[in-house]
Amino acid sequence: MAVHTCTALAPVNIAVIKYWGKKNEDLILPVNDSISLTLSKKKMCAKTTVACSPTFESDRIWLNGIEQDFQSPRIQNCIREIKRLARKKDYLSYHLHICSENNFPTAAGLASSAAGFACLVKALAVLYDVDDELSKIARQGSGSACRSIYGGFVQWLSGNQNDGSDSIAKQIAPKEHWPEMRVMILVVNSKKKGTSSTNGMRNSVLTSSLLKHRVTEVVPQRVQTLNSAILQKNFQTFAEIAMKESNQFHAICLDTYPPIHYLNSTSFMIIELVHAYNELYKKNKLAYTFDAGCNAFLFMLEEDVPEICALIKAAFPPIDDNGNFIKGFIDSSFEVPLDTFKKLNIAPHPGLLQHVIYTQVGSGPAIISEHLLNEKGLPL
Ligand code: PMV
Repeated sequence: MAVHTCTALAPVNIAVIKYWGKKNEDLILPVNDSISLTLSKKKMCAKTTVACSPTFESDRIWLNGIEQDFQSPRIQNCIREIKRLARKKDYLSYHLHICSENNFPTAAGLASSAAGFACLVKALAVLYDVDDELSKIARQGSGSACRSIYGGFVQWLSGNQNDGSDSIAKQIAPKEHWPEMRVMILVVNSKKKGTSSTNGMRNSVLTSSLLKHRVTEVVPQRVQTLNSAILQKNFQTFAEIAMKESNQFHAICLDTYPPIHYLNSTSFMIIELVHAYNELYKKNKLAYTFDAGCNAFLFMLEEDVPEICALIKAAFPPIDDNGNFIKGFIDSSFEVPLDTFKKLNIAPHPGLLQHVIYTQVGSGPAIISEHLLNEKGLPL
């Protein structure tokens, strides 16, 4: 008997205006709108195969090669919502097998749940023939996953309805709109596992008065300004909002009681370096943002990439550079502009970065034909 199979790829996204705090924990409704960039799937993505068949004896799920509990409430939420809208009604009685993996190490603390849930929802939607409401469904897996349903520059509208029906993502502009935008992820050498975003935001909502001020007084204006900056390709404003947003998010973490801290001393060195570099040019050529971890996401324009690569290597030289320190950047004209660095007075700190991922803005989820499950529905 037939096994029906579908495989999707889905991208990671990085928030410029941060989502931090829920007004409804069950439905995953955020206290404010957020805006993100979807990153190219070439460097980082989740891959998920879903299969259903009358021959399967139970529902099963494997994540990164290890069988997991199928009853996890967030996975169940996504499956329930997709099945509610399914047009392939005959598949509804079959058991499901799900197999998912990331092409980047989950341990690096990079946004893997957003890509993972967006991927699950996309694959299930194609399997059961659903084409609506995917961001709303992905949101119920992991809030930030709703933004990974679209490529380019994306806004998640917090919405006004109590049932969450208008808490959805929409695309502000596709990746082609601002092709010069580049992103570098500085993976900081650290073993520390921080507070989960779910627990962290719950405590911030309960205890941080700065979060209340942020939601009413700060975010609405920033959402408007950032929307225009993206539409006008205004990197100056984009960079300023990105850095201020990151700083306010981490200030809220510290304003939470007991406090939460995600940044470490390397993160602060990166922050100082970015400000010193911008100060040198008297304009924002580089911007940082940090999520719930110590790794930095840097934004820049393509024309500044060679110099910024040299800057990062000079400030954080790898202990043994096997040529793979900055993954994805190959440029023979790669030279340290001595003059700039003398003025910046950089003291090198070897070994503080594990590696750097060089990437750009990318498109949304895609369907592919290479599956992770064989014809019996078992992992390959
Ligand atoms: O979707 P979650 O629960 O992983 O929360 C994501 C929270 C941040 O990454 C810190 C901010 C954001 O908007 O992505």
